[in-house]
Amino acid sequence: MTRSPLLAPSLLSADIMNMERSISSLEGQHDWLHVDVMDGCFVPNITFGPAFVRGLRMRYPDETLDVHLMVEHPDRLLDDFLEAGADILTVHVEADRHVHRTLSRIRESGAKAGLSLNPGTSVELLRPLLPFVDLILVMSVNPGFGGQKFIGTVMEKTTTLCRWRSAGHFSYLVEMDGGIGRENAADVAKGGCDVLVMGSAVFGAPNPADMLKAVRSDLVEVMPRV
Ligand code: DX5
Ligand code: ZN
Repeated sequence: MTRSPLLAPSLLSADIMNMERSISSLEGQHDWLHVDVMDGCFVPNITFGPAFVRGLRMRYPDETLDVHLMVEHPDRLLDDFLEAGADILTVHVEADRHVHRTLSRIRESGAKAGLSLNPGTSVELLRPLLPFVDLILVMSVNPGFGGQKFIGTVMEKTTTLCRWRSAGHFSYLVEMDGGIGRENAADVAKGGCDVLVMGSAVFGAPNPADMLKAVRSDLVEVMPRV
């Protein structure tokens, strides 16, 4: 058996005027759908709101919706996104003064609580919060846009998070987001990431399903047998 990471295509790079067609083009080769929510304040871009998540939930009841909130004061929007049907709700440690409370509210709702950090943020900030998270999303680009270059130094954070996970007997997943494509997916996986977000590499490919299949087979080759 192999332990292969989950693949989460980001709808940020999908064809916004043909969202159903974009999702169909994955042909079920994905694990989760990653939804990037941007408020024009925490990041210099504006994207989807709760209505979009609700629409996805209604149209795709069985999909895992991995919602990444790149917004200031995410606590103000939690209920809207939770009621809309997010399965995983991730907030940024830089965006919320009361992260512990926010994470607890997400878990109390029955959703999985995710915590993210920008490339310039120290992973040490997350340490007191580890018992309260189901997922840590390590940003490997500065958030706001798809198609940016991978910042390799963030891999050290993954190593640290994996070490802390074993030492503390935690079970959070480590997800990486930004600048991942076929050329570096295997290295990201070897570094310990459990979930790979891929936007432009998937939806910019001539055939997104073939792209996911190719990445998956690359990953199976490099992952240790467990
Ligand atoms: C960036 C978003 C990412 C983005 C990744 O702010 O959080 O999820 O869609 O896109 P790529 O894979 O193109 O870097
Ligand atoms: Zn994202």
